[in-house]
Amino acid sequence: MQLIQEVQAAEAPMALLLIADPSEDKVRSYLPGSRCFVVSKDGVMVGACVVAPLGDGAHELMAIAVAPDHQKCGHGTALLQWVIEFFRAAGARQLEVGTGTFGYQLAFYQRQGFRVTGIDHDFFVLNYPGPIFEDGIQLFDMLRLTLTYPAPDA
Ligand SMILES: CC(C)(COP(=O)(O)OP(=O)(O)OC[C@H]1O[C@@H](n2cnc3c(N)ncnc32)[C@H](O)[C@@H]1OP(=O)(O)O)[C@@H](O)C(=O)NCCC(=O)NCCS
Repeated sequence: MQLIQEVQAAEAPMALLLIADPSEDKVRSYLPGSRCFVVSKDGVMVGACVVAPLGDGAHELMAIAVAPDHQKCGHGTALLQWVIEFFRAAGARQLEVGTGTFGYQLAFYQRQGFRVTGIDHDFFVLNYPGPIFEDGIQLFDMLRLTLTYPAPDA
């Protein structure tokens, strides 16, 4: 059985978050003040997501990850949809996320309505101690994606 719930940021599963963000220092810097959501399968935590407030009704999805053995089973989509609905119900104006310029993650977010709203050139070079590769390709730039919630009376 799949269960999604919020947990205290202090209880955030670091090993899972490091799958999405390789810098533990960075994760530790945004965890306090953020909200953490986890997905469990048959009592085992298999995925996690951290969302930080940006102010003025905007929030940023800082990390989302599912344990490699449990990927491609729908947990990530279920967690992302749950978090989107959580912040919609809380009256949020928008949810933002930064991701690489290639890879399946782009479709993962855009399928839920995220749109490309910006590009942060050299983000992955300037903000991490060493080069990051995905599918053998070095990540340089970060795409900013935004999900804008309709106004409540729209
Ligand atoms: C992104 C992530 C959270 C998605 O979670 P998930 O449980 O695997 O997602 P789902 O099972 O709901 O699948 C969503 C889509 O992603 C695809 N996908 C998931 N993992 C994949 C992988 N390793 N390689 C290629 N495609 C993958 C699925 O096939 C699916 O696409 P489809 O519907 O066209 O088949 C998870 O794959 C993950 O932890 N990735 C590593 C960390 C990461 O990149 N986080 C995002 C940082 S921006």
